[in-house]
Amino acid sequence: MSTERTLVLIKPDGVRRGLSGEVISRIENKGYRVTSLVMMSATREILERHYAEHEGKPFYEPLVEFMLSGPIVAMVVEGNRVIEGFRSLSGATDPTVAAPGTIRGDLARDQGTKVVQNIVHGSDSPESAAREIEIFFGGK
Ligand code: RTP
Ligand code: MG
Repeated sequence: MSTERTLVLIKPDGVRRGLSGEVISRIENKGYRVTSLVMMSATREILERHYAEHEGKPFYEPLVEFMLSGPIVAMVVEGNRVIEGFRSLSGATDPTVAAPGTIRGDLARDQGTKVVQNIVHGSDSPESAAREIEIFFGGK
């Protein structure tokens, strides 16, 4: 059976605050493997595809604007059950209540912004992972 893959993004707040190395360390220390990595400026087109499921929600436009506010790091991360495992490393969406010990729980908090800034994204299912890896890495 082939190893599972997930798409991880370090969002602009994480890159801006110099936390890329910390996030990558946590992924590697857990034992997962980073197999592709790029720092890039996302485009609106990429983000509209990536966040299609959230279109129409009140936080959608602020989310896209936030993701356009600076460079991001996109990674493919591999390992058995990595989708579930990285979501566990990330912690809850809302950093105020994300458990201490998680990336969001340790490194983020509510900044009073229109959309919650929470350092990382991780795919939430094998279908999402395949779709999102195709968006950011063209199936590579
Ligand atoms: P992600 O997709 O970034 O890994 O985060 P998630 O699964 O934990 O959360 P999701 O529901 O997919 O939402 C995507 C991102 O949108 C922002 N968000 N803000 N009520 C809000 O203000 C709100 N809800 C969602 C967050 O940046 C979230 O990570
Ligand atoms: Mg999500």
